[in-house]
Amino acid sequence: MNLSREYLFKIPFKQYSIPNWEVAKKEIMDALPKDKYTDFFKNRGDHALPEYISTVASHLKGPMIDFSLTYPCPVMITSMWFERSKKGDFHGVHNHGATGFSAVLYVDFDQAEHQSTIFHSPFVNPANGDNMSYQPVVREGDLLVFPSFVMHEGPINLSDKERLVISFNIMGEDVHKAHISGYDKGYAEASPHMEKGSILE
Ligand SMILES: [Fe+2]
Repeated sequence: MNLSREYLFKIPFKQYSIPNWEVAKKEIMDALPKDKYTDFFKNRGDHALPEYISTVASHLKGPMIDFSLTYPCPVMITSMWFERSKKGDFHGVHNHGATGFSAVLYVDFDQAEHQSTIFHSPFVNPANGDNMSYQPVVREGDLLVFPSFVMHEGPINLSDKERLVISFNIMGEDVHKAHISGYDKGYAEASPHMEKGSILE
């Protein structure tokens, strides 16, 4: 009998489908600003959460409660932004920092026309040294959750149809406190919290 474990380390990953997606999509699309392709730089510059976070979070309750069960302490959504991609647009390889988890919600996404996020392994295939990547099959309304440190990219949009995703970061409450020390107090208070199976408002 072999008592040793099969993997030294594993990378956690979750894929959810948002329930009642038609209703959720309409509410989320209505809540988003229509006049720009992203609000990432504004939110980061202002250290602010966007107004539409409450609309989005209201449709994420099930997945976020499930995710909170895997976490050792209360977690919170610490930042959120959207990204519209027209034909030819892409988002090059990047990560979201060393701490916590990140998520991408496919809000306006045609499975037949668009490509999902490609994730790149932080280690190579030990048999041949090749880099490894993974591109999950996603449908509109799916939510992917992955460690923030994992490198990933949004492939070029080859379609005439726009692609729209919302991304956000999740941190443990304790780590987040350190992360935002010096930021505006309202920013911390506005972050949606989740704790072991419930949302803390
Ligand atoms: Fe990203």
